[in-house]
Amino acid sequence: MKILITGAAGFLGKGLIVPFETHGHALRLMDVVPFSSPHETVVGDVTDYAAVEKAVAGVDGIVIAHMAPRGEKNIHYSTPAMPFDINVKGTANLFHAALACGIKKIVVISSTAAVQDYKREVIAHDLPLRAAGGYYGMSKACQEVIAEQFAREHGMQVACLRVGYILDGDKNVDKYGRVIAERNALDTDRRDIGEVARLCLECPDLAYETFNVMSTWESMDSWDVKYTCARLNWKPAHDFGWLRTPQTRP
Ligand SMILES: NC(=O)c1ccc[n+]([C@@H]2O[C@H](COP(=O)([O-])OP(=O)(O)OC[C@H]3O[C@@H](n4cnc5c(N)ncnc54)[C@H](O)[C@@H]3O)[C@@H](O)[C@H]2O)c1
Repeated sequence: MKILITGAAGFLGKGLIVPFETHGHALRLMDVVPFSSPHETVVGDVTDYAAVEKAVAGVDGIVIAHMAPRGEKNIHYSTPAMPFDINVKGTANLFHAALACGIKKIVVISSTAAVQDYKREVIAHDLPLRAAGGYYGMSKACQEVIAEQFAREHGMQVACLRVGYILDGDKNVDKYGRVIAERNALDTDRRDIGEVARLCLECPDLAYETFNVMSTWESMDSWDVKYTCARLNWKPAHDFGWLRTPQTRP
């Protein structure tokens, strides 16, 4: 398949592409900032419908992984302007253009923020939206609303991945370059997210589904990641087993 990935120059994007490369998919990578890659690249803004229309032409599937930058001290998420423009309108533009071009398969990179307000020991994979975290969480929930409605009204095959805290599992660094020394249930290797996205796009019987995606054994029950594993025949490849907490493995 030929897959368009938005936000491809970002922290997630750089790792997300790996499983697609390994499995021989052709990639078209889109970002608003110029970047170099051995794959086809498109520099464009997801808020610009004409740019989006061009970017989706000729692809078989899309992974929506862009996000508005947080800015110094999260300043860009202190008002609705940027999160709604880039995260929400950008997502609607991509779905609208996909529909116009007959593209049926889409994965949206959502976040645990979309269900973060639940105070439960177990967060099932299909809980209805209950976002927290101000405009960030709100924008992730809105992305899921758009995704679900396009899937339902237009028969698209759509998965929203509620991903945890994204790390590079080789260096144990997050997107800000911070080195993580202690494990957390939410730790998620960016290549594991790519693998789940790939499996969703290749899944023959997917209509609309939400999946929790984390790499740790702790998330299997508490975040119902065992459902993701069973449904997609997936196993996290980077479980951060080398990062210790006071907890011991069962
Ligand atoms: N980093 C985490 O721990 C984390 C946790 C949960 C969910 N997520 C989700 O993962 C996805 C990727 O996040 P990330 O951490 O890699 O962010 P990032 O900021 O590293 O990457 C986002 C990319 O989107 C691009 N972008 C911004 N505006 C754009 C526009 N108008 N048009 C096209 N591209 C644009 C940026 O240039 C950047 O390269 C987002 O959907 C985010 O909500 C991230």
